[in-house]
Amino acid sequence: MMQTTFKVHRFDPEQPEHARLATYVVELPESASIVDGLTYICDEQDPSLAFRANCERGSCGDCALRVNKKGVLGCTTKIVDVVGKDGIVTVEPIRHVPVLKDLVYDMETFLWRKVRAVTPWITPQAAGPNGASTVSEQKIAEVRTAMSCVMCGLCDEGCTVVAVDDQFVGPAALTKAYRAIFDPRDTRHVERLQSISEPDGVWDCTHCFEANGHCPIGIEPTDRIFEIRDEAIRLGIRSGKQNPKVRRHYDSFVNSVKKSGWLDEGRLAIESEGLFNVRGLLKLLPTAARAIVRNKAPIPYMHHKRPGAKAIRQIIEKAEGKRS
Ligand code: SF4
Ligand code: FES
Repeated sequence: MMQTTFKVHRFDPEQPEHARLATYVVELPESASIVDGLTYICDEQDPSLAFRANCERGSCGDCALRVNKKGVLGCTTKIVDVVGKDGIVTVEPIRHVPVLKDLVYDMETFLWRKVRAVTPWITPQAAGPNGASTVSEQKIAEVRTAMSCVMCGLCDEGCTVVAVDDQFVGPAALTKAYRAIFDPRDTRHVERLQSISEPDGVWDCTHCFEANGHCPIGIEPTDRIFEIRDEAIRLGIRSGKQNPKVRRHYDSFVNSVKKSGWLDEGRLAIESEGLFNVRGLLKLLPTAARAIVRNKAPIPYMHHKRPGAKAIRQIIEKAEGKRS
């Protein structure tokens, strides 16, 4: 048996000013999980503690929590693996969620509305004679990993964009989108790619790779986002109708590297805003001024060619040829 001190977030919506960490000492076998610890507290010490858990085998995503400042599934995380040297585990709700009570939070604004927005079901062609739309295992293999997503939201919890912009669709919903986009039965491939290329969609990811590190299932949501983008580029979509800035950014990036073999950052900033977008260009001025003061301002369109520029151009043109 092992003795552990649990410090558990307590929050009463009727007395929000009294939110606190309450202390409980539990004695459980070494195989016990965080959910076992919370269940023990609820059964033996304080039945008013509210938390969520369902399958207790890592399949439903219900028990996503922040334990010692790290997002985990409480049911598959053993206490012995996360307890600090001081014998304490601190259990809190995940970040960026409206807390309803103690460890129970509202998933609607955090995740479900975003999942709905990507239409997380496929629209197959006419079904077979038995009413089912079947597909061979070989053809569906590509989306198998994404299909194992348990919708815990831990990738969104760790996402650096969600942290500052709750409108960003986020890696969890994009994993759902990926699952439908690459299902060979789906008939809305292009429409889906166009839809998630609109503002707050797939192009807002900053490739920090935090989502990969936070997913407890190993789905690597950031990699799935890259695959969606590659597919959008392959089909010439590049951005939605309402955010042409992404397309301008992409085109400027490619044209710059094609011309000189490397990125002309000054040109990229100007062309991303749009050459005739006076308001957008004016917004660049403070950054440009700071760069000039630090002698780091890239002079746009004055880029010298780097060695090997011709070969780089040929590689890009070959890739572009393959795409068309
Ligand atoms: S991709 Fe991973 S972390 Fe994100 S919701 Fe699915 S299972 Fe959870
Ligand atoms: S209770 Fe279902 S994943 Fe933890």
